[in-house]
Amino acid sequence: MKVHLTKKTLNSNLLIFRNDRKTIGLVPTMGALHIGHLELVKKAKESTDVVVVSIYVNPTQFNNPADFEKYPKTLDKDLEILDKIGVNIVFTPENQEIYPSNPKLRLNFGLLEEVLEGAFRPGHFNGVGIVVSKLLNIVKPDVAFFGQKDLQQVAIIKRLVSDLSFDVKIDVVRTVREADGLAFSSRNMRLNPNERMAALVLSKALFFAKSELLRGVDWLTVKNQAVQLFESEPLCRLEYFELVDPNTFKILESFNPRDLSSICTAAYVGEVRLIDNLPIID
Ligand code: PAJ
Repeated sequence: MKVHLTKKTLNSNLLIFRNDRKTIGLVPTMGALHIGHLELVKKAKESTDVVVVSIYVNPTQFNNPADFEKYPKTLDKDLEILDKIGVNIVFTPENQEIYPSNPKLRLNFGLLEEVLEGAFRPGHFNGVGIVVSKLLNIVKPDVAFFGQKDLQQVAIIKRLVSDLSFDVKIDVVRTVREADGLAFSSRNMRLNPNERMAALVLSKALFFAKSELLRGVDWLTVKNQAVQLFESEPLCRLEYFELVDPNTFKILESFNPRDLSSICTAAYVGEVRLIDNLPIID
């Protein structure tokens, strides 16, 4: 496995594979790798010849400086894992390499950035859009892999790729969960044992709501019951629990089994902000 800190060495390494007509898969990450990330790598290995994993904690997508400071960093362990599972190339750039100057460009994704994550994390999707554009331009992969865990991020990236004609296929990988239902997340490392227990309310509320909707209970009743579940957990503070169209992120007032829909939620557990979602119809 080759680890590159610069675009220059990364490019000369990739050129060898491109000349050989090998397909390139990119898995963008912010490190602190867990089983969810590894599922993306597994999918990339199955469908492309050369797998590039980027590890870069992108400062421009953090609206909260404390969250950026406290973002877990486990680079040595990450590299060890990626080497073991047969990743070909890792790109771990310094800030200067990605942002030689502060970008002046501002991306506007319309409704997609006005609701849920967009509303609670102003500027977040602008930062995601910019860094993902840079990574796509630097690596020029045939396929890039993203997790359904960040459903709104997937919608943003699909929009970006379509609006700017990036020549890349976007593959979306299902959310990987711990045995008790908690979605894997780098932020879970920051939970103490009591918070780890309390964090289960996110997935419990989602799975409860899905089964209630599918047995015909109306959305507003289901949502009220889910909100009560959060309220019964003193370590949790709910930010949102909404039914949405996963492509447009239009918030839905009622459930229609004929339409695509997903429930998205975000909550603080202690000081750690977690997000999760569940497709009802996909
Ligand atoms: P990060 O949070 O490190 O996640 C990297 C990728 O792993 C994302 O596509 C995310 O959706 C996926 N992922 C995270 N947890 C997952 C889980 N439990 N199951 C399946 N996939 C999961 O998302 C980012 O980094 C950044 O915003 C990035 C796209 C790298 C841009 O900076």
